[in-house]
Amino acid sequence: MKIIAGPASQLLASRVARELDMEPSLCEFNRFPDGEVYTRVIEDITDDVTIIQSTPTDSDLVSLLQLIDACEDAPTITVVIPYMGYARQDKIFKSGEAISARAIARTIKADRVITINIHEKSILEHFSADSFDLDASHLLGNYIRSLNLDNPLIISPDAGAIALAESASADVGIEYDYLEKTRLSGDTVTIKTKNIDVTGREIILIDDMIATGGTMAESIKLLRSQGAKDVYIACVHPVLTKNGVLRLYNAGVHEVIATDTLEKAQSHISVAPLIADFLKKL
Ligand code: R5P
Repeated sequence: MKIIAGPASQLLASRVARELDMEPSLCEFNRFPDGEVYTRVIEDITDDVTIIQSTPTDSDLVSLLQLIDACEDAPTITVVIPYMGYARQDKIFKSGEAISARAIARTIKADRVITINIHEKSILEHFSADSFDLDASHLLGNYIRSLNLDNPLIISPDAGAIALAESASADVGIEYDYLEKTRLSGDTVTIKTKNIDVTGREIILIDDMIATGGTMAESIKLLRSQGAKDVYIACVHPVLTKNGVLRLYNAGVHEVIATDTLEKAQSHISVAPLIADFLKKL
């Protein structure tokens, strides 16, 4: 098998390859003068391939499609999309809208697709390939345990991330609870206080992704106003767009913990073992 590393997942793919005692195949990524994306797999592809590429931007998606096309002579193509962009538009919220996650899934022509904590599991049904969603919650849980926090409490900022909070906390035997969030606009949310006694406790807010940081910033402020000690943030996907990082630090976050499904300064936990173990079993 060959590992192909897309431009958005160079480090993660290298880590997966190392876990498998391999080296990723080299590719060329460039742009034409008009801005179009150019992609070339340098070596001949005649073996099975695994392409690893997150798609946080439209051009990352184009690169992934190009890599799949460039590998068309491979006997089988496995595509790993650690972070899949557009996954939050997984249904029609207003009439006339596209189900963007479905539109994207339909473009991926492969034998297998692997995602990690995809925003909604139902999206997997839209891939024509066999699809699998891997769960990184225990990696977050193990990291949280290694922090040796004082009377910690894991909290989901909304009902949607309760399963993640439950799963991460199960590994470390820590209590978990959740807050109630109402979204007012694309980057504004209000958080309703729940009956959680956070006084003097170290809190780990957990969510599948942090984008603008609005959800987490409001949650941090609320928890700190209720007497929480240090507030940590843990997520699988550190999208951290716009002023996301600043918003979190302005709100008083102690540390941002994230995986390398997106390669950011905060991505201290690698999902490479998760992917490599799965690939070994194929
Ligand atoms: C929403 O359903 C997700 O799980 C996250 O809560 C959300 O995407 C975070 O977005 P933001 O950081 O922009 O508040």
